[in-house]
Amino acid sequence: MKKILVLALVAVMMLGVFAVAQAEEPVKVGICIYQFNDNFMTLYREELQKYLEETYGAEVTVVDGKNDQNTQTDQVNSFIAEGVDVLIVNLVQATAASAVTALAQEAGIPIVYINREPSEEDMAAWEGMICYVGADARQSGSMQGQIVYELPDHGDINGNGTVDYVMIQGDMENVDAQYRTEYSIKYLTDNGVEVNKLFEQRGDWMQENGQQLAATALAQFGTEIDVIFCNNDAMALGAYQAITEAGRKMNEDIYLLGVDALDEAVDLIEKGEMTGTVLNDHIGQSHKAADVAIQVANGEPLDAYYWVDYQMITGE
Ligand code: BGC
Repeated sequence: MKKILVLALVAVMMLGVFAVAQAEEPVKVGICIYQFNDNFMTLYREELQKYLEETYGAEVTVVDGKNDQNTQTDQVNSFIAEGVDVLIVNLVQATAASAVTALAQEAGIPIVYINREPSEEDMAAWEGMICYVGADARQSGSMQGQIVYELPDHGDINGNGTVDYVMIQGDMENVDAQYRTEYSIKYLTDNGVEVNKLFEQRGDWMQENGQQLAATALAQFGTEIDVIFCNNDAMALGAYQAITEAGRKMNEDIYLLGVDALDEAVDLIEKGEMTGTVLNDHIGQSHKAADVAIQVANGEPLDAYYWVDYQMITGE
């Protein structure tokens, strides 16, 4: 009897050792963010890390590129030296993709690019092992234009026959800035609306810059301005402060548009204090990026692109 018990115990212990040896090592993920000082990318990276850890038990390290490509390239090299299984990279400069891909390719480490879309040519450089996860910024631009077009006056709030607008742009390193600038206006002109650009400047996605640029435009053009388009909500929140300070009445004598659907912007829209925004789905994008990063770390090839839709947000 005793012998049987001892044998059983030994068998159980051996099974235990076997199970430990079999237990998979956590997937090591190195995440490079272009800079931590960005409202939208803060929501994105927090969700990305949480989801990777909670859903996949991944070992995640996130680093701040401080808006400097050299810093970020060093960080990529460190991750490669540490032997991460997969990289998730939000480039500082989209044009650095070919150099970053080459580094990873040499080490055989796949890359999921997020938020700043590299060129098509760069995305074709290493098939199955690199991809881009993002939203098509043409769509967000068109949606901003559509929100304005669907207003009773099609955006011509001062009734002078043209939509006189101010454009506050993001950092052009992100094609989102280029496409949102172009497609918001294209939607209006495609629908026969006459437009007139009064002012266009870069605010590099930052709230303070949005406030300052909107204040400058308001001082210069006053009631001539019908619409202030901002390439993102952070800058729109800044513009909102400037508009209030200038004593203008939102949706009565001026319209204001952003992109991202930050909580603060959605609150303003609900109160009629901002005209509209477009949901830039950081949850959908971060989950997709995490899913495909784990997929490729487990040896399954990637598609070149994974797209997540935008969604219009208005007072209705
Ligand atoms: C977002 C911006 C953000 C930028 C960073 C854009 O997609 O709309 O809010 O600052 O990405 O690259």
